[in-house]
Amino acid sequence: MEKRFPVVADRAEGCHVWDTDGNRYIDYTSCSGAAPLGVGHPAVLDAAIAALRTGGIVPATLSQARIETAEQLLPLFPFADRARFFRTGSCATTAAARICRVQTGRRLLLTSGFHGWHDWHLQSAFGGLPDRDPETIDFGYDLQRLADLLADRWNDVAAVFVTPEVNFFPHAYHVELAQVVRGHGCLLVLDEVMTGFRYRLGGYAVAAGLQPDLITLSKGLANGMALSAVIGRAEVFEGAEPAYLGYTYQREVTPFAAATASLRAFRTEDPIGRMHDAGRALISGLNDLFTRMSVPAIAFSWPSMFRVLFRDNGIGESFYAGLLRRGVLMEYGGVHMISAATSTEDIALTLAAAEDSLIEVLRTARPTLGGTDLTDADAHMLAVRAFGATSETAAKWWPGYTPQGE
Ligand SMILES: Cc1ncc(COP(=O)(O)O)c(C=O)c1O
Repeated sequence: MEKRFPVVADRAEGCHVWDTDGNRYIDYTSCSGAAPLGVGHPAVLDAAIAALRTGGIVPATLSQARIETAEQLLPLFPFADRARFFRTGSCATTAAARICRVQTGRRLLLTSGFHGWHDWHLQSAFGGLPDRDPETIDFGYDLQRLADLLADRWNDVAAVFVTPEVNFFPHAYHVELAQVVRGHGCLLVLDEVMTGFRYRLGGYAVAAGLQPDLITLSKGLANGMALSAVIGRAEVFEGAEPAYLGYTYQREVTPFAAATASLRAFRTEDPIGRMHDAGRALISGLNDLFTRMSVPAIAFSWPSMFRVLFRDNGIGESFYAGLLRRGVLMEYGGVHMISAATSTEDIALTLAAAEDSLIEVLRTARPTLGGTDLTDADAHMLAVRAFGATSETAAKWWPGYTPQGE
């Protein structure tokens, strides 16, 4: 089956997706994280349909649904008193970059991690395209490199942009990063497009006690509808008033109607707690399996967005291909984003499929490298490959397999 598009999807509901041949899969991508409540959450669907019935768009940039979204969103992030809305995660990170540049009158952006597909952050670890913005530098999550850059270029740096890598770095890493950034006259932006509605209610910054200047949000904000936001303190936005950040479809009300219903569900239904329960069951089930079968592999660590690491890539690839044939949609090498719609039956089916798949793989391939345990070196390789950490950083900060902040 084509690796890039393994499933031609026909429809989805909750955590299930059906392909055009009628096969059902259990989805562990939450549609790339977009629908953490599960696809078609009834209250979100009702709110979106009601908004569409009244036309779905208004000839004004301010709508009641937009105001209500801001009013429900901001109390979840106590450091923030302003929100600007956009459509995609990339729009939000690009808007945050512009806000920081206009506010500080500086151009240089120091970044780590993925921030979307726009030109300014096409960093070398993610393709190294020749037209990448020369005014961004990837510091590879390396705090020493960051400190050196800030010391050398302090007069140029508008902002430091970081995506929290919650499965790898402890809270203490992000706290130290924030300390390194302070005092240089630049802004700190936490890219929480992935973590904002998945790590904890209030995202990573609140859980880790961080006070960034701006946070970018998207996945989950409107549970499946395209909506994103930049949130932060009023003075950061006020300093960037001259920046043009308008767009035609800010007049659409449907994503805002979906957002108000989603935010209500996040407050009242504890979906993140349910994602964590499901994730914990999967992580421990997979790790039991790997131990029983003596396969050097591990599932770790933050339950609602965990990773699986195989020492032998070939075995990992075959295991995931076998999962797909057995109706489990998980991306090899990716972050497994569970939705709150995942039931205990889905988890039992997944673990049974995992056992079958591994038995099948081991019939033809034995782990090529010795030992049943993964070493720190295996984890370090993942950090370098998956999110562009320097190897020094990976060696310094890898906390073992203990999730932080549970
Ligand atoms: C941390 C982070 N920032 C930004 C983006 C870009 O969001 P989008 O794909 O909606 O443009 C993503 C998408 O995966 C992301 O994970």
